[in-house]
Amino acid sequence: MEKDVMKDIMNDVKKYQKAEKLKKWRDEVEPIPWYFDGLENLCDRIHPGKLFLQVSDVKQLSLDTKLFRFISAKPKKLLAPFRSGQYIGLTVEINNIKTSRPYSLASSPNQLAYYELGIKKKEGGFVSPYLFENLKVGDILESTEPMGNFYHNPIFHGNDLVFIAGGSGITPFVSILRDISERVLPLNVWLFFGCLTEKDILFRDELDEIQERRPNIKIKYILSEPKPEWTGARGFISKEEILNKIGSIKGKFFYIVGNRAMYQFIQAELQALEISRHRIIYEAYGVPDDVTKIMGWPEEIDASKKIHITVDLIRKGKKETAIIEASCVEPLLNSLERARILGYQLDNGCRSGECALCRTKMRSGKIFVPPEVIIRESDQEFGFIHPCVSYPISDVHIDLSLT
Ligand SMILES: Cc1cc2nc3c(=O)[nH]c(=O)nc-3n(C[C@H](O)[C@H](O)[C@H](O)COP(=O)(O)OP(=O)(O)OC[C@H]3O[C@@H](n4cnc5c(N)ncnc54)[C@H](O)[C@@H]3O)c2cc1C
Ligand code: FES
Repeated sequence: MEKDVMKDIMNDVKKYQKAEKLKKWRDEVEPIPWYFDGLENLCDRIHPGKLFLQVSDVKQLSLDTKLFRFISAKPKKLLAPFRSGQYIGLTVEINNIKTSRPYSLASSPNQLAYYELGIKKKEGGFVSPYLFENLKVGDILESTEPMGNFYHNPIFHGNDLVFIAGGSGITPFVSILRDISERVLPLNVWLFFGCLTEKDILFRDELDEIQERRPNIKIKYILSEPKPEWTGARGFISKEEILNKIGSIKGKFFYIVGNRAMYQFIQAELQALEISRHRIIYEAYGVPDDVTKIMGWPEEIDASKKIHITVDLIRKGKKETAIIEASCVEPLLNSLERARILGYQLDNGCRSGECALCRTKMRSGKIFVPPEVIIRESDQEFGFIHPCVSYPISDVHIDLSLT
């Protein structure tokens, strides 16, 4: 009996030694277990942080808008997956000034061979005219990973969706419609697309084709400055147009993309239809053109006033303080980039107060923030600001050594 027990124990010891040997062999050959490696690759794929994109094609969409197609500039680094409606932040260097602008992805999320961006050249703009005039096949740009919350959320948004786009604001909807059409999603969509003239209807052939193929997608073009022969709707996207087309507002969820002026106009129209704010999402296309015209702007401030910004920062591992001059009608982030004091780019994504990537500690001073921008209560309480939408209206002291 004792002999048998001893035999069993010895067998177990041998098995253990064999398992240990095997484990050691596995560790040597396969140091990372497959599941861990798989997860790490997946996380890196979904959240690469930044991407390097190479222009592979350029197409003129209208007089002032071009479609740029980008592939991954690093053959082994695949493009990150995204949800239709999201954007990427493109970084550019113009006259030694490093800055970024967000652009919505227009391509379908069902393929990741390339991304497409439809970029409109803004009169008096800084980045978009540069991209429009200079970006060519072969050029490489850095970008953020896909970002943003402007996408269909079936639980909260339901299946009946009303899309309202102005001008280049059509780009995220193109991606969403491509997605709905390709996957034959059971969603009912009404798209109202406001443009100046017929020539400004971007992606028209493709939109018409989608509408023809998918009866659940209905599109209405509304022109504010049409030629006399235009037989479609004229003027602005009004509550009457919306109601006529969608029948009832019940159960419908509204998405708006366009400049701030358009958003304010549409918001008032939707309010008149008694649509709850909770049933509307919008993507504000950047900062206001003229902040002095925004509700709440302190009229006593002289718009030509120069402001001093004291900036605490870390340079070469040491804390330093710099003072720059800024304009009260320019977002603080733009002034910081223009001053080129940092030697690196302050993190940013949306440049419209939403993503919180540019969050910065303000030690003292006064800023103006457009009223529709919602800053988290905790940020306000602890003195954090979003420089992308903050206009300094007194001398300001910020601390970048904490970011
Ligand atoms: C989520 C999101 C998605 C968007 N998607 C699209 C899209 O799909 N297509 C599209 O066309 N647009 C899109 N936009 C708008 C886009 O991001 C830009 O706002 C637009 O292209 C205008 O940029 P701009 O630099 O030309 O103009 P502005 O940003 O208005 O540039 C002028 C500003 O640049 C600064 N500036 C000027 N000169 C200098 C200088 N010498 N040094 C430093 N700063 C200077 C000043 O602050 C000035 O106010 C999107 C915006 C957002 C928020
Ligand atoms: S860049 Fe998104 S909040 Fe400032």
